[in-house]
Amino acid sequence: MSKKEDINKDNIPVHIAIIMDGNGRWAKERDEPRFVGHQEGVISVKAIVEAATEIDVKYLTFYAFSTENWSRPKEEVDALMSLLVKTIKSEVLDLNKNNIRLLTIGNINDLPKDVQEELNEAIEETSMNTGLSLVIALSYSSRWEIQNAIQNILKDSKKGLVTEEDIDDDLIGNYLTTKNIPDPELLIRTSGEYRISNFLLWQIAYSELYFTNKYWPDFRKEEFFEAVIDYQKRERRFGKTSEQI
Ligand code: FPP
Repeated sequence: MSKKEDINKDNIPVHIAIIMDGNGRWAKERDEPRFVGHQEGVISVKAIVEAATEIDVKYLTFYAFSTENWSRPKEEVDALMSLLVKTIKSEVLDLNKNNIRLLTIGNINDLPKDVQEELNEAIEETSMNTGLSLVIALSYSSRWEIQNAIQNILKDSKKGLVTEEDIDDDLIGNYLTTKNIPDPELLIRTSGEYRISNFLLWQIAYSELYFTNKYWPDFRKEEFFEAVIDYQKRERRFGKTSEQI
């Protein structure tokens, strides 16, 4: 029996964000090049998108490439970029068939032109879909995002569009690349590392964190359902007492 049966349909996280980690170690354990781990990781991405659709998650974010990942060996960066383009190209039809809308967050202008073109095309072609929003974080880091937001707030302040009194949670949220995307209720990280690695620092203020020892290529539907079940056992207090909830 699938763990899916144990999920409470009335308490599904609206937004789940995932730090996919462990592709390299997964490949190393098999004496394969790191790239093979990334290829297998794409199969996990597809499985989790399917699983999220099945339980009606509205937003699913994958940390696919961080600002810091640019300093990996050039051949690995190139391989990841081609894998991304190839995957998007081959999946657009399926995304549309499943009513999935593609979005990106991060410094997209930093990506190679062909990747940007492919992404923009897929974003445009899926923009009318109303099911799952699939968000891919690319050339993303929270500190970059927050710096960028502060620069833009200052620019707008000079134009008289923002005053000191206007600055609150909502306004700051509107200057982040996640504008219009609700904060994640659940953040998952695979591979036994207990770090956030510069991911969605503002947005995860009240997120539940779930860590698993599984490497990303081994994280499939059942592991995802298990994470959701674990989330459903938590009491989310947002700073209040149990009695107030
Ligand atoms: C982390 O494992 C994985 C990445 C930095 C890349 C993840 C990218 C993909 C799975 C492909 C593209 C994704 C989409 C959404 C189509 P690691 O290399 O840091 O592993 P290690 O810590 O074991 O070395």
